[in-house]
Amino acid sequence: MPHNGNIDTIQPYQPGKPIEEVERELGLHSVIKLASNENPLGPSPEAVRAAGKALSRAALYPDSAAYTLTRKLAAKHGVPPDSVIIGTGSDQLFMLLALVLLNPQANAVISEFTFPTYAIAAHSVGAELRVAKAAPGLGHEVDHLLAAVDSATRIVFIDNPNNPVGSYLGRPAITRLLEAVPRDTLVVLDEAYYEFVDAPDYVSGLEYLGRYPNLMVTRTFSKAYGLAGFRIGYGLGDPALIRLLQRVRLPFSVSHPALLAAEAALDDEAHLAQTRRLVFGERPHLARLLEQHRIRTLPSQGNFVTGQTPIPSRSLFEELLKAGIIIRPLAAMGLPDHVRITVGLPDQNQALAKALEAVLG
Ligand SMILES: Cc1ncc(COP(=O)(O)O)c(C=O)c1O
Repeated sequence: MPHNGNIDTIQPYQPGKPIEEVERELGLHSVIKLASNENPLGPSPEAVRAAGKALSRAALYPDSAAYTLTRKLAAKHGVPPDSVIIGTGSDQLFMLLALVLLNPQANAVISEFTFPTYAIAAHSVGAELRVAKAAPGLGHEVDHLLAAVDSATRIVFIDNPNNPVGSYLGRPAITRLLEAVPRDTLVVLDEAYYEFVDAPDYVSGLEYLGRYPNLMVTRTFSKAYGLAGFRIGYGLGDPALIRLLQRVRLPFSVSHPALLAAEAALDDEAHLAQTRRLVFGERPHLARLLEQHRIRTLPSQGNFVTGQTPIPSRSLFEELLKAGIIIRPLAAMGLPDHVRITVGLPDQNQALAKALEAVLG
């Protein structure tokens, strides 16, 4: 079929293996998934109740303008409602940004080890993708990102904290980056893991929004809010940019249950606090456990820990799969000898400990 040749340059996204697939293939039950940085506590019960109310209205299209959620988010973040856009997951927003800002004469800059959707978005529209070298600790390096920026750079995508490494850029680095980037280059700070940060020198891009119209901050309901299955995230930025993005967003892209669940999730502060307590409590245990089994971990500000494995990472993934635990080998993210493991519940982490003992000794 004659087609858009840019598509041939896209490496298809490789998602974490679904629980149902592993149970089907290996005949297992009670499989534990620690592969996609989902919330092991599940969604807020309030969000589930709210989404349930939407089910009987399934014959009607949802509110395409997401009136209530947009205003709730605007109030929460102290920005006007026209600075907010809701997406079918935050990853939809990266695609919309590419449609609006990129073209075959433009380029987008990313760092070496980062969330793969930025590359998919840039390649889809035929833009050049510039990959800046990572820092020695594998995280983003502002100098290298800036060196890749030129007059044709329309977007710099930065996940902060970063997936798959778990590293972050602190206040001085973010300030330096925003000061140095040309005013007609958009900096996208993807803060999907914002809620799991406890580093004192971390800063959210929200602090800079008023000062830099060439900044967009994205957040998601998929991680700390436990709503990954509903596909809902949002972006905050200059109203002029938001208007452009709204032009290419397909109408009704976010479902009614997702909108209601997100509104309720924002109000359930206890669920968010419980999620954060879990991650802050278990993350160091998980890192210690991995270290005990000779997996050399990287410091993480996400709800996951990444490390270099003492045996081929694919073998570790497959052996743990046989024990009913799904982790994420990172070859597709450019780290063939690393794995990424989501922070689970204490009993899930104990099951992981037992399995690691059996596989790695
Ligand atoms: C850094 C980063 N950004 C964005 C996303 C996508 O989130 P969403 O589910 O909102 O599309 C992920 C999901 O894994 C992520 O790791």
